[in-house]
Amino acid sequence: MGASNSAAKLTWLGHATFLVTTVEGKRILIDPWTFDNPRCPDDLKDPGPLDVMLITHGHNDHFGDAVALAKKHSPTVVAMLELADWLVAKGVGDVVDMHIGGTVQVAGVAVHMVAAVHSSGITDGNQTVYGGNPCGFVIDLPGGPALYHAGDTAVFSDMALIRKLLSPDWGLLPIGDRFTMGPRSAAEAIRLLDVKKVVPMHYGTWPELTGTPAQLREETRDLGGLEIVEMEPGQTLDL
Ligand code: NI
Ligand code: MN
Repeated sequence: MGASNSAAKLTWLGHATFLVTTVEGKRILIDPWTFDNPRCPDDLKDPGPLDVMLITHGHNDHFGDAVALAKKHSPTVVAMLELADWLVAKGVGDVVDMHIGGTVQVAGVAVHMVAAVHSSGITDGNQTVYGGNPCGFVIDLPGGPALYHAGDTAVFSDMALIRKLLSPDWGLLPIGDRFTMGPRSAAEAIRLLDVKKVVPMHYGTWPELTGTPAQLREETRDLGGLEIVEMEPGQTLDL
């Protein structure tokens, strides 16, 4: 959709699921939840070839299709170590385990794992398996920009450290409330992160995720130079 070949690209698959394509053509899926994701367009339920998969936490609405898509497309999967162990036990082959504060290089991209204030149980049959800490990611794309995918989180003051250490240009931030930040908290996150481009996510998927981009705009009226980019599921942006 108007995307050029010279820029990295961001496609929203609905909810917290995004596909990033680097200038070198590497394809990075963040939070693999497509088949049961009511906002994911039918033609993206299988997003196609994948080089990398990043998983923020074990909840089904971020992780539900991790095993199926990893087995189909054989990406390098980056996840919190307990989640990574679970994936290996399920037969996923190329798994990179890490923890908050660390950085790994995958497919020419620096992937930094950062904190999230949330939980990360994995639903496995009729039990819940410990998934380690939930997380967010800052990914440094070759030639820029740096993207922060916050995962599911409340606002937390150490977002200022994410800014200081990693300087993300874009924030992909949950705004739906109830299970994550709502618009007022997300506005405070934007101040702490000092990001100039924000893509709201994790809202409207179900009726209880009530936060809206309009509310986020209202809460950030005083911030100059901020661009809130309201994407449609299936839409692709040049970064
Ligand atoms: Ni969650
Ligand atoms: Mn969620």
